[in-house]
Amino acid sequence: MNVRARRTLLFMPGDERRKIEKGARLGPDAVIMDLEDGVALNRKDVARETVRTALQEVVFGRAERLVRINPVGSGLEEEDLDVTLAGRPDGYVVPKVESPEQLAWLDERLTAEERARGWPEGGVRLLAILESARGILHAGSIAAATPRLEALIFGAEDFAGDVGARRTPGGWEILYARSAVVVAAAAHGLQAVDTVFTDLHDVEGLRQDATLALQLGFDGKLAIHPRQIPVILDVFTPSAEEVERARRLIAAFEAHQKRGRGAFAHEGKMVDMPMIRAARRVLARAGEGSSAE
Ligand code: COA
Ligand code: MG
Repeated sequence: MNVRARRTLLFMPGDERRKIEKGARLGPDAVIMDLEDGVALNRKDVARETVRTALQEVVFGRAERLVRINPVGSGLEEEDLDVTLAGRPDGYVVPKVESPEQLAWLDERLTAEERARGWPEGGVRLLAILESARGILHAGSIAAATPRLEALIFGAEDFAGDVGARRTPGGWEILYARSAVVVAAAAHGLQAVDTVFTDLHDVEGLRQDATLALQLGFDGKLAIHPRQIPVILDVFTPSAEEVERARRLIAAFEAHQKRGRGAFAHEGKMVDMPMIRAARRVLARAGEGSSAE
């Protein structure tokens, strides 16, 4: 399975064409044009139209083109899809997912659209945000809901609000939920993307928070301001040395597999499957499209 690098995904309000154009030029792995909480209720129509035309007109380069719709069940999601599908986004980001049924509904709806439009079936991707007690509790079944699902995203602010946690700089109050997202994603071969860092000016704090996310097992982190992109990219992009080490390890592994040997010694350390998986993850973050298995 080829995985695209999702180290940094930049959010922008869907009703702001200027930010969409700017975001596309800043080199994030994905842009997420928002129709949900970043857009006022009386601007939803404008935002849908702005996103549709941006999808048709803006040059996004190598950035994945994603749209965040309103939650399934909100009553706004149908129109979000109706209008934006015409722009053929690469995928949808689904907020406040709490049950696999919500994704199953979307899957069915998208399949019908793909058939009607003559697009390859299953091509429109999904990324689900888990950001409530129920979302975290059902993370495993949500992760298995549909093959369209490529990533789980953790949303700390909504989660903290839902359970009554008070946010602190260290983040102990979100550690359980944050790790639950990584575990559910890993168990189902999905990517895990970490929550936004809301202080737009605290670059050092962002670096520490992103580093913690990397250590916990996340593949990337959401961004909400241009300033955050280089910091997050720097944390999640492996160094040339790390990439070289991962390549050597996988080459040695493949040679030993051919000779029928599982565990082996490489550069003074015992190597087995977990280390190979970690090496493949490094190559995936380097954008070398290796396997996530
Ligand atoms: N994407 C693209 N461009 C952005 C951007 C974003 N998320 N945030 C800011 N910019 C641009 C601004 O348009 C401005 O560019 P310009 O001077 O060429 O017009 C430049 O970067 C500097 O912006 P700045 O003045 O520092 O920020 P702001 O005060 O205009 O905006 C926010 C602050 C938080 C409103 C803005 O960063 C934003 O909209 N973030 C995303 C919010 C969102 O999508 N939330 C939903 C998910 S949580
Ligand atoms: Mg939210």
